[in-house]
Amino acid sequence: MTRDAFGNDFCWGVSTAAYQIEGAHEAEGKGASIWDVFSGTKGKVKLNHNGNLACDFFNRYPDDLELMQQMHIPNFRFSLSWPRLLPQGFGRPNKAGLAYYNRLIDHCLELGITPWVTLYHWDLPHALEKQGGWTNRAVLDWFEEYTTLCVNQFGDRVNHWMVLNEPMVFTGAGYFLGVHAPGRRGFGSFVPAVHHAALCQAIGGRTIRRLQPEATIGTTFSCSYITPYRPEEKDARTVRRVDALLNRLFLEPALGLGYPLDDLKFMRRIEKYMKPGDEDLLPFEFDFIGVQNYTREVVKHSFWTPFLQANLVPARKRNVPYTLMNWEVYPESIYHMLHQFSQYANIPKLIVTENGAAFPDQVLDGKVHDPQRVAFLQQYLQQVHRAKAEGVKVSGYFVWSFVDNFEWAEGYDPRFGLVHVDYETLQRTIKSSGYWYRDFLQGKATL
Ligand code: NOJ
Repeated sequence: MTRDAFGNDFCWGVSTAAYQIEGAHEAEGKGASIWDVFSGTKGKVKLNHNGNLACDFFNRYPDDLELMQQMHIPNFRFSLSWPRLLPQGFGRPNKAGLAYYNRLIDHCLELGITPWVTLYHWDLPHALEKQGGWTNRAVLDWFEEYTTLCVNQFGDRVNHWMVLNEPMVFTGAGYFLGVHAPGRRGFGSFVPAVHHAALCQAIGGRTIRRLQPEATIGTTFSCSYITPYRPEEKDARTVRRVDALLNRLFLEPALGLGYPLDDLKFMRRIEKYMKPGDEDLLPFEFDFIGVQNYTREVVKHSFWTPFLQANLVPARKRNVPYTLMNWEVYPESIYHMLHQFSQYANIPKLIVTENGAAFPDQVLDGKVHDPQRVAFLQQYLQQVHRAKAEGVKVSGYFVWSFVDNFEWAEGYDPRFGLVHVDYETLQRTIKSSGYWYRDFLQGKATL
């Protein structure tokens, strides 16, 4: 099948995030983010990699956008760096930061590329973290001020906004497990961070709507299809708990259903952080929900794991194909998640705002041959199409990622790009998957 099978109004694009590609970590008045501090702390990121230079997208964006245009990619998702715009998190904006994003947005538009802008992709200003970051309820005001600035500055040209990127991941990995910035652990940090992020998700949406009523507003969620390891009742119950935590914790309050506490008893402590009226502040009518899927999780009941009482059974122990992230290649996962999300009565349209894979790519004779990534994208897209053909309202698909980039705690080793980046010379090389996507977008290649 060709691109036509998805219809003319289906949005095709690529995704990135500021900290993962920009570099220029202290250029022109930018403040430090929690990721600058975390990756600058020995032992936090594999091989002590950091985003100081990354892909140097900050300086090279004109060339990168031209490459994108040559690849016939019509939509570009990127995020704004909060500390580049507001070095202290609030207060006086950094003029050079505003100028940079103005140049970037203008250049996209000049080349006929539509910008899709994420407000928060994990790089909280360190100045705010010093005051408690996401655990401090003041983040509601900080985030509203930041959103207001962004919409006032860029809303005349940006029509597609996403409020948060994967709140479950940045709260879970950053405030419960401590494996992402800011590296905090335990319920005392996690639970207030969850509640404040869930509130900001809606506050961001309302702020954009108020200032720019015509805008298309979304937010994005990580999700994985959860299946039981054994055909036993206790594993089936485990599936419900893990699904509630990984797939429903932020989506359901946004839809007006509250937190899924019936399936997640240990999260009842969230009620301690709820102020009168908060229940009414959690929902927001998004125009779209960003679905970000890579894999499925196979889970089994574990008496010994506190609270969740679940273990994830790793792909390498199940004799299934997996990527460099140790994530199982399971294309049906995206099909099931699109169906699962579309079962909610008031769900808006869905857009796959991330999907992709890391494989061990190599440059040979100036070329990167990555047939595994081509097959991955084809198979996942077939499943997106299958869901769409069955009536799921899915109206877009963005590949993660345009270029190889800084993969958070995993450093630069896992390469997700359609375009290879040589981190010594910063040279870009379109991979065969990039050529395949280009041809597919032109109707010349098939799934
Ligand atoms: C989720 C995140 O949004 C993105 O930052 C990350 O690089 C990809 N998925 C791959 O893990």
